[in-house]
Amino acid sequence: MKLKSVLLAMSVALSFNAYAQAPIVIKFSHVVATDTPKGQAAERFKQLAEKATNGRVKVEVYPNSQLYKDKEELEALQLGAVQMLAPSLAKFGPLGVKEFEAFDLPYIFPSKTALYNVTEGEIGKGLMKKLEPKGITGLAFWDNGFKVMSANKPLHEPSDFKGLKMRIQSSKVLDAQMRALGANPQVLAFSEVYQALQTGVVDGTENPPSNMYTQKMHEVQKYVTVSNHGYLGYAVIVNKKFWDGLPADIRTALDKAMKEATTFEKAIAQRDNDLALEAIKKAGKTTIYTLSVKEQADWRKALLPVQKDMEGRIGKDLISAINKEAAK
Ligand code: LMR
Repeated sequence: MKLKSVLLAMSVALSFNAYAQAPIVIKFSHVVATDTPKGQAAERFKQLAEKATNGRVKVEVYPNSQLYKDKEELEALQLGAVQMLAPSLAKFGPLGVKEFEAFDLPYIFPSKTALYNVTEGEIGKGLMKKLEPKGITGLAFWDNGFKVMSANKPLHEPSDFKGLKMRIQSSKVLDAQMRALGANPQVLAFSEVYQALQTGVVDGTENPPSNMYTQKMHEVQKYVTVSNHGYLGYAVIVNKKFWDGLPADIRTALDKAMKEATTFEKAIAQRDNDLALEAIKKAGKTTIYTLSVKEQADWRKALLPVQKDMEGRIGKDLISAINKEAAK
């Protein structure tokens, strides 16, 4: 009898201990492959976060839309089914934060320096603040890079897009961009793009080379044009209730891990995209074309009016503030 109560007390103590030491789990869902800038940085954040918290935090990374597709992952974050995401800045419109679509405006950033003036300054902070009423806290901006266009026909002049069905992300700015080129934009989740291209549901698409290569889109696209007409980046976001409820020392450690992961991400993004373009070339299925100076001017002429057309959606003041920062 005595032994039984001792054993019972021991097992209660053990399970209490196990409970007390159960790690805080961060489910980090994203839609791209692990060997992309975002995929690698998510892994790096996991390592840094688990080390900095001595295992009190466990980060589970779910890449490649394994858990959720584009739209579902934002809903899952708000519901608390996952704690962390890094959606592209083109995917915040359905949340009601249309201002993030400013990043999709054609030719708004002449360089990465211009982009960082925006993301790392007051404009970036102001944009992240807009997420708070949605139950979301923004932690960092991550890079991918400037986009290329692809199709099964050469895309040299804006007129080459006429009538093409082009897959876009959910951004209304991207919709306007494709229409300005005379194409028919079609919103599709990232996980559906390869198959849509393969089966001819859409004719072409846009993305930085790292996304194109890791999803094997080049295997079903005969032509890629290096146009750098627009930018693709991410906001790393967490469920606000979860974040605010963390012990302060854990939050501080995670913030530091995120800063380091962000520095890493920015350092690898350009190189990864350069390597991916090389790899697409080497695979030999796709002709890669770089626009001539005249063609670049024609694209700009066709696409720059989108900045003005989208003032009603994004806000005139925000667009001119970004242009001002970008020009510094
Ligand atoms: C896309 O949907 O095309 C990309 O933004 C996916 C991503 O997250 O890079």
